[in-house]
Amino acid sequence: MKINRRGLIAGGLAAIASGTLNGLPLHAASGGRRDGYGAAVTLADLQADVRLRDAVTRYCTQIVPVYELKWPTLRPSAHMFDFEKADALLDFARQNNLTMRGHNLVWYADLPEWTRQISDASSAETALRDHISTVVAHYRGKLTSWDVVNEAIPEFPRKSTERRDSLWLHLLGSNYIRMAFRAVAEVDPDVQLTLNDYDIESVGERFSARRAALRDLVSELLDTGTPLHAVGLQAHLHGELEIDTEGLAKCVAEFRAWGLEVIVTELDVDDQKLAASQAVRDMIVAKRVDDVLSAISSDVPVRSILTWGLSDRYSWINQMFPRGDHLPNRPLPLDADFQPKPFMNVISKFTREAT
Ligand code: G3I
Repeated sequence: MKINRRGLIAGGLAAIASGTLNGLPLHAASGGRRDGYGAAVTLADLQADVRLRDAVTRYCTQIVPVYELKWPTLRPSAHMFDFEKADALLDFARQNNLTMRGHNLVWYADLPEWTRQISDASSAETALRDHISTVVAHYRGKLTSWDVVNEAIPEFPRKSTERRDSLWLHLLGSNYIRMAFRAVAEVDPDVQLTLNDYDIESVGERFSARRAALRDLVSELLDTGTPLHAVGLQAHLHGELEIDTEGLAKCVAEFRAWGLEVIVTELDVDDQKLAASQAVRDMIVAKRVDDVLSAISSDVPVRSILTWGLSDRYSWINQMFPRGDHLPNRPLPLDADFQPKPFMNVISKFTREAT
């Protein structure tokens, strides 16, 4: 369905004027903690900005570390583990009645320099198993879920210098994925094991190809008895692209039919290519979010929705996708002054007030 900009603007702006969006009173919709809603945070930002701490404890019931559970932070060297920053985030979560999920145990990107010394299958397997067994044991019983493998689907169309040729895929082949999931389950049989990927949501050949590849990978993992419990849709949405609501709903329904949960793990909207007007951008951003959450919760509510940040003040989008007009991006539920936008009202529409 083409977005009717005029209709959207009229409807959206009228909603703001009337104080409602999708029939929800704006103030009520963006009020208290939402059960199952969470945001990605860094320890540094939380420590530096009391407004961020207050907003997280006001709106969220869970958090996920942006960086503190990744290899560069946890693994200063091949023989060292440093849990200090991730433990500090876990303490913040516990002190504020929040849960925390883990991100991520295995990724092609952002590996510390010393991993360049890993040059054969045996040492790659040892490094992978050593990392997983130590980290998962340290957090056993303390996290709700893990993004066990992040971004396993290759880029489409395949580029000559395929950036997915990661250390793990290169030295272990695609078996690294099964190996990782089994290794986590051996250490913590109770934590939710998630396969996390991106660009599954929008219209277009690239996105439908990625959806098909993810479906095939999930099917293969399940057919081989891999302990997989959930699919994480990162949902880094592109503001200028409509959501393939039909294709996404079909894909999600299939995952659920296979007994998997579907969660939203890194939701935000890149508004780089959208109009300058804040009101128009906010409406289109909210519409993209509403379309995704509607498509994946048409038959079953989504129990876990996390945005990749909470306030526009702290978003990777500002660095990675700056606007040509140099206006600040507006990718998240709260603006740079921590005020709720229509995006937050859509979150409220799909989550319940937490007691
Ligand atoms: O915290 C350190 C700081 O101490 C140091 O001085 C500074 C300079 O090196 O780096 C800081 O760490 C940065 C970290 O973000 C926290 O801000 C790293 O350099 C930087 O590489 C890291 O980038 C993150 C990136 O993942 C790689 O880990 C982005 O913030 C984060 O938004 C991005 O998130 C990814 C998800 O993990 C997977 N899905 C896509 C998503 C966006 O790319």
